[in-house]
Amino acid sequence: MPGAQDLVTTSGSLGCADGITASPGSLSASAGTDYATPVGYGGPWLQLQGDFSVIATLASSAPANVFLTLVGAPNSGAEWWQGLKRIDAGINTATYWTGDSATSVNVPYSTTASGTFTVEVARIGGQVAINLNGVQTASFADPGLFTSGRAFFGFNIAPNTTLSVTALAATMPEGGASTLYTPDLQVAARSGTGLRDLAAPENLLMGAAVNPSYFNDSNYLQTIGREYALAVAENAFKFGETEPAAHVFNFCAADQVVAYAKANGMRVRGHNLVWSQDLPDWLTNGDYNPQQAQSILQEHITTVLNHFQGQAIDWDVVNEALSYSPPYDLMSSYWLTQLGPDYVAEAYQWAHEADPSMKLFYNDAGGEGLGDKSDAIYNLVKGLVQAGVPLDGVGLEMHIDVPTAPSQADISANMARLAALGLEVHVSEMDVRLPVDSDGVADRLDLASQATVYAGVMNACRANANCTEFLTWGVTDAYSWIPSSYPGYGAALPFDAQYEPKPAYMALSSALSSSAGVAQTPIIGTDGIVIHGGVAAVVSPGSLVDIYGTNLSGDATLSIGLPLLTTLGGTQVLVNGAPAPLIYVSPGQVIFQLPYSAAAGPVLVQVSSNGIPSLAAAITVQAAAPSILTYGNNLAVVQNQDYTVNSPTNCAAPGSYLIVYLIGSGPLNNPVATGAPAVSNPLSSEALSTTATIGGVPATVTFAGLTPGDVGLVQVNLKVPQVSGNLPLQITVGTYASNMPSVCVR
Ligand code: XIL
Repeated sequence: MPGAQDLVTTSGSLGCADGITASPGSLSASAGTDYATPVGYGGPWLQLQGDFSVIATLASSAPANVFLTLVGAPNSGAEWWQGLKRIDAGINTATYWTGDSATSVNVPYSTTASGTFTVEVARIGGQVAINLNGVQTASFADPGLFTSGRAFFGFNIAPNTTLSVTALAATMPEGGASTLYTPDLQVAARSGTGLRDLAAPENLLMGAAVNPSYFNDSNYLQTIGREYALAVAENAFKFGETEPAAHVFNFCAADQVVAYAKANGMRVRGHNLVWSQDLPDWLTNGDYNPQQAQSILQEHITTVLNHFQGQAIDWDVVNEALSYSPPYDLMSSYWLTQLGPDYVAEAYQWAHEADPSMKLFYNDAGGEGLGDKSDAIYNLVKGLVQAGVPLDGVGLEMHIDVPTAPSQADISANMARLAALGLEVHVSEMDVRLPVDSDGVADRLDLASQATVYAGVMNACRANANCTEFLTWGVTDAYSWIPSSYPGYGAALPFDAQYEPKPAYMALSSALSSSAGVAQTPIIGTDGIVIHGGVAAVVSPGSLVDIYGTNLSGDATLSIGLPLLTTLGGTQVLVNGAPAPLIYVSPGQVIFQLPYSAAAGPVLVQVSSNGIPSLAAAITVQAAAPSILTYGNNLAVVQNQDYTVNSPTNCAAPGSYLIVYLIGSGPLNNPVATGAPAVSNPLSSEALSTTATIGGVPATVTFAGLTPGDVGLVQVNLKVPQVSGNLPLQITVGTYASNMPSVCVR
């Protein structure tokens, strides 16, 4: 049939659906004491436009108990039926749910089908037709089951029944636009500026833990392939997942990760083979003696590594062998109990025998910087190296929070001492959990601090040539292990739940693109501090101020939202030691707001980049310091009465009104908080008398004060006097006169 796709022999990930077992040429599933309804939400599914039909050959000793299930939309509410659009077709009835009620609609019919039968569900125009063994048995108006544009394949099986599926195919009319969509083969569009692209010249692989349970989310797939060059499975490579029953291996989900990585030019990191957690019940409750446990572990390691030979580049062989609290000795576990402390070294030997080309890692948590846990890890791996155990490196997990994050210097020192043992290091599972509200939302200031923590770890990695991989434990805050493992915490990853890059992403991107490679001492240029838009080193409280210099930050970062933050991309401006609100940071220029609390006289300004402070430079604060903003060749930033920008070819008429924009207000009659935008009601007006001249002729000032909605921006509204030409404009606040850029009047 044109357009037909056989989904059994090319079943791909359909066999990964919970409860479906794939073997060559057939799928099977069975129900215990409850109905079983395995559905392949992980794909492949039909991406629908117009008509289609799905045909399956089902076999069961109780044929009336088995159904082909198609789902147009999965459950999306609290109750199982909410949003669920589903149809089950069996030998004598079709049943459907429309998502609005728990009650289904039954369409009975009679056939002679039995034993092995073929059932087809076709959507033709506005009708759904059911065919049994090629004969139409029912047709009814489609209640909109597939309006989502998708159809997921599944089966429904009554209690105590076994189903075998020997054929499953979808057909679409020739020339139609429907397709069979296979998530793990989706190729993400590359931006050329993703983290993976920025890290490539550094010989650093940027990676993420991925989870095929989320492969039905195309944003997820697009983000991973665009940003990362390395995938580790969050769970799919672990013991319980890969060996669900004794000596029975299932690499279905694992292979989806590998397939996706391959389709997107990504490498694969393996995690893990020997851990105290994620062990299946068949093992821990299995009453095995030590010899048996040892041979189970060796078989597991060998089988998994053989399966991934040539597919993965490295593996965490032993994971978290040391306890999570002092004295950080080997933690009690099934493996320690059964095999004794030699299990660690033995596991590496078996792994090396299984695949001598695989790089083998030890992975652990809580010892990323310096300290007792870090020493314990160091001593463990040093012992292994000295004993000639085949160990290539150490994974530093980096599940951290802001208050207790290890410092960049300590992480760097730890990486360096591991390098001295001849070991590589990976930042293997980074996330930085933040306290969140009940909606999972973190404080903006915490998001900024989080960015600084990410930048520090990246800078430590870049400073050590043996740091070859940097992975985050997940991609988006929508799918992270943190909220369930650390209640009250979340927002730990570089992308938010809507896949918007967070400040943490910007920080990683900046740290990767900074040519300096590692944080360097920021240097404020000589005469490098001036009022924003001007040239004078004289400022007033609340003014925006420019700092010019070098190494002022890792890279360019614009402030996000109001009120302004005091840390951007790891950079702070310290005014007499206290951080001031920031508008913009870049290696060569920083814009900050001078706090309203600054007293008249000299103040000291420092730039601190990733914790490294510059020398202090002085600026002079006075009551007012008006500085008209300029553009082009000393043209004043002025709006004409029609709100267009005044220029030599767009002059204002005498008698019309202008808005002049400047920096450096005097005292205000309605004070505004530092870093906060000015409000419109009541306006914040200049307390000192403000006057204006154009071409030396006085202009009537109708308003002088802060521009509502902006930080530190002053506006003066004035009436143009009877003058003509490109003329100097000057504003005077109290006794302080501004610069004199030109404005055009004609
Ligand atoms: C976590 C996964 O993220 C969870 O989905 C799972 O339920 C438990 O394991 N250290 C490790 C990882 O080495 O394997 C853990 O992953 C997180 C802590």
